[in-house]
Order: sequence, then C-alpha cells, then structure tokens
Amino acid sequence: MLRILIIDESRARAEELCGGLAMAGHQVAAVLPSALDLTAQIEAIKPDVILIETESPSRDTLENLAVMNRDMPRPVILLTQESDAAVMRAAFKAGVSAYIVDNLDLARLKPIVDVATEAGFDVVRGSESDVVARFVAALDAYPSEHVVRLTADCPLTDPLLVEAVVATHLARHADYTSNVLPRSFPKGLDVEVMRADVLRIAADEAAAADEREHVTPFVYRRPERFRLTNHDSGRALGREWWTVDTPADLDRVRAMVDRVGDDRCSWTAMLAAVGCRNPAGRGDLALRPAGAGDADALLRWRNASDAVQWSTTARAVDPTEHRAWFERILVDAGRRLWIGVVDGLPVGMVRVDVETGIGTVSVAVDPERRGHGVGSGLLRAVKGELLGDCQVVELRALVHPANPGSARIFGRSGFTEMGLDDESGFVVWRCDRSTFGA
Ligand SMILES: CC(C)(COP(=O)(O)OP(=O)(O)OC[C@H]1O[C@@H](n2cnc3c(N)ncnc32)[C@H](O)[C@@H]1OP(=O)(O)O)[C@@H](O)C(=O)NCCC(=O)NCCS
Repeated sequence: MLRILIIDESRARAEELCGGLAMAGHQVAAVLPSALDLTAQIEAIKPDVILIETESPSRDTLENLAVMNRDMPRPVILLTQESDAAVMRAAFKAGVSAYIVDNLDLARLKPIVDVATEAGFDVVRGSESDVVARFVAALDAYPSEHVVRLTADCPLTDPLLVEAVVATHLARHADYTSNVLPRSFPKGLDVEVMRADVLRIAADEAAAADEREHVTPFVYRRPERFRLTNHDSGRALGREWWTVDTPADLDRVRAMVDRVGDDRCSWTAMLAAVGCRNPAGRGDLALRPAGAGDADALLRWRNASDAVQWSTTARAVDPTEHRAWFERILVDAGRRLWIGVVDGLPVGMVRVDVETGIGTVSVAVDPERRGHGVGSGLLRAVKGELLGDCQVVELRALVHPANPGSARIFGRSGFTEMGLDDESGFVVWRCDRSTFGA
C-alpha cells in the first residue's frame, strides 16, 4: 500500500482528497498545510508519493520541491487551477512528475498515482545508514537463495562478468564470492555474490557501524566462519580506476565511453579500447595477485635457508604439500597472496591471512634481490592494497626474535613491536588500519 503525503493549504479540500485516496486503496501518511522544510518532513514521514493541491504553486513551494528532489526524491503529483505554461515548466523542472489542471474526479486519482510512481523499477526503502538491514528488507520482499550486490559507483558494471562471478560462487559452493579479494579487475567492476542466509546472519549479528553501513564486511572479515572465494581475472589490472567517486572520475569514465562509442560494451572491449592507464613505472615495485605460474618461485623463496630458519615451523616445505596448499590459497579470499614485481620480474611475495578482520602478514624476498628495499616496499604496497577494501582493520606479524632484517622492515613500515607471543615465542608486530595510508 502506498503511503501518500498530502500538502494542501485548504483543510476541507485535503479531507476530500483523503477520502478519495482511501477509496483508491492508498494510505495517507500525513497532511501538511505547506511545503515548508519539505526534505525534513519527508525524512520524518517517509511517504512514497507526495500529492500537492494548490490554487497555484508558489515560488516557495517549487523551491522546496527542487531541494527535496535533489536530496530525497519522491514522485510528486500536483493538482492545481494554474494553467500558465511557464509555471508548468517551472514545476516540472522542480521535479513534479504529474501536473493536473482543473478539478479532478477523485475516482480517477488511482491511475494517476499509479503512473506517477512507476519508474519501471520496484523499490524497497529503508534506513540510510543501516544498509545491511535495508538489504534484508529487499530480501524479505523478493526472497531468493543468493544475492548479488553491485554499487552505484560502478557504472561500467558488465553483466557477463556478473554472471561469471555468480558461476564461480555456485561452482565453489561459497558463502561469499567477490572479484576484489585480491583485486585483479579494474576498480569499478566490483561484484559481490553471497548466500541469502549469510546476509541475514550479518544483519542479525553485525554490531560495528561500518559493518552495518557497508553491508558485507561482517562476512568477508571472517573467513574462519564463512567460506569466501575470489573470482580472479588472471591479469594484474587492479591499478586501473574505472569507478566514479568524484566529478573528475565521472569526466574520465564519460571520456572512456565516448571513446568506445557504446556504453554497453563488455569490460574486455572497453579495456581493449582504452588500454591500461596506470602501468607501474620503470623500477617501481608493484603488486599483482599470485597466479598458478608462481608456484615454483614461491617454493624456492619459502625454502631458502634463512626463510626456513625464521619460519614458525623451522622446516622446509615438501613440493607436494606446497602444491596442495597453493591451489587452496589461490581461490581463498581470506588468505590473500600477492607477488611483488619490478620491471615485469617477480622479486618477492607478501601474504595476508585474515581472521575476524585481523590480517597476519608474511613476506619473503627472492634471496638474490635482498637488501635493496624490496621487503620494505612489499609492506608499504600491501598496506595500500588493503585500503581498497574494508577486510583488514589491523595487521600483525610474527617475527623470529633473531631475525634482524625482518624486524628492520616492520619497524620502518609503521608497525609497532608488541612483545613476545606466548605460543610461538616470536615477536608480535602490529599496525592499525588508520596508518595504512601513511
Ligand atoms: C626479511 C626480508 C623480507 C627483508 O627483505 P629485504 O628486501 O632484504 O628488505 P629491505 O631491503 O627492505 O630491508 C632489509 C633491512 O634489514 C637489514 N638487514 C638484513 N639482514 C640483516 C642482518 N642480518 N642484521 C642486521 N640488519 C639486517 C638490511 O640492512 C636492511 O636495512 P637497511 O635498509 O637499513 O640497510 C628478507 O630478508 C627475507 O625474505 N627473509 C627471509 C624470509 C623472512 O625472514 N621473512 C620475514 C618473516 S615475516
């Protein structure tokens, strides 16, 4: 049932309107004598439609409508005696959806309300900040087994990519799947898919404000509880910026679309047309998600004699064990593994294992590339990478007490020494998310 707000300077006329709306099966949410402070009134009353009846819409009314239309748009039906074309134009400009001149037969009100509220989409409304509850309200209205979340800052969303992420989600029987943990697609093609029951758990249990506002962090911060998986592009495109957060982003995305001449082309056609715009510079250290071809290099770095000495197990890893571990980790969005690359060559790795939003970081550098800032560079780069999503709120590392190189890189990368870990006897280093950008 639609909730209608009536604005009418005449109380008697408003009462007649209320009767007509009740007959048409609508609910009158409130009756106001003027459009004064309309946006605040809408926020309090939460109507679906606004029905204004007036001799002639005043400038104040139109100004209030224009502000509301900008901040909290709602369909507006205007019933009036005013037939001046300039006033009509001004009313449409202020956001009026239906402008009806002359006395209206109340029996004809229903189709007008129906058409004015039809934008072609069904809408579920809810709290502005408690977005996870809003998602569950939509789920209640449209029950489903899985939910796809797309955000409005991604106008280049590609339906074929959405389908591919859904297929990965179903094939791996995941609770939650995205294509950003780690990011291998241009930023702005983000897709999340989750089981509906998992979304409901998040809505029931999430307490932190950011976990309610950003909908999914409650789930993807807890790989120990939910089965998370990542859909990977197989390419290192995470530095490309296709999202729209600022007016400059909008200009850039518009220019990209103009260049292709088709705003419905696939993301791969868009990439072919615009190319990579943010390649790493010569000599720069860049991160890319690890891929199947990195297995041998990772095993070599892991089994270097000092890496074995400083590891928590203090033993070399067997190749069969390594392959099984590596296959699991490549699809696990709770254990993110990147390769550091300089001028196209792999120079080291950095990994973050997440549990309840706390990421444990480990790092290893190719023995031939040590002592040239690669280890410190990997830590700096991974902190930047983690700022691109909300998964990790704090980073920790366990460092062998006799490993001076490691203590040096954590100390100079914004980590603080916290003392010895009781279980392993290793030194705990910690770094808060608020310092990731520093
Ligand atoms: C620890 C490690 C990642 C450092 O990588 P790296 O690329 O050499 O790091 P950087 O070049 O950024 O910095 C290393 C610093 O440690 C210092 N260092 C290295 N070995 C040292 C030693 N034995 N004694 C004192 N300082 C030492 C270097 O001099 C350098 O400091 P500086 O730049 O002030 O001279 C690398 O040595 C490695 O892969 N070790 C094996 C795996 C490991 O121990 N990982 C850490 C576990 S989380």
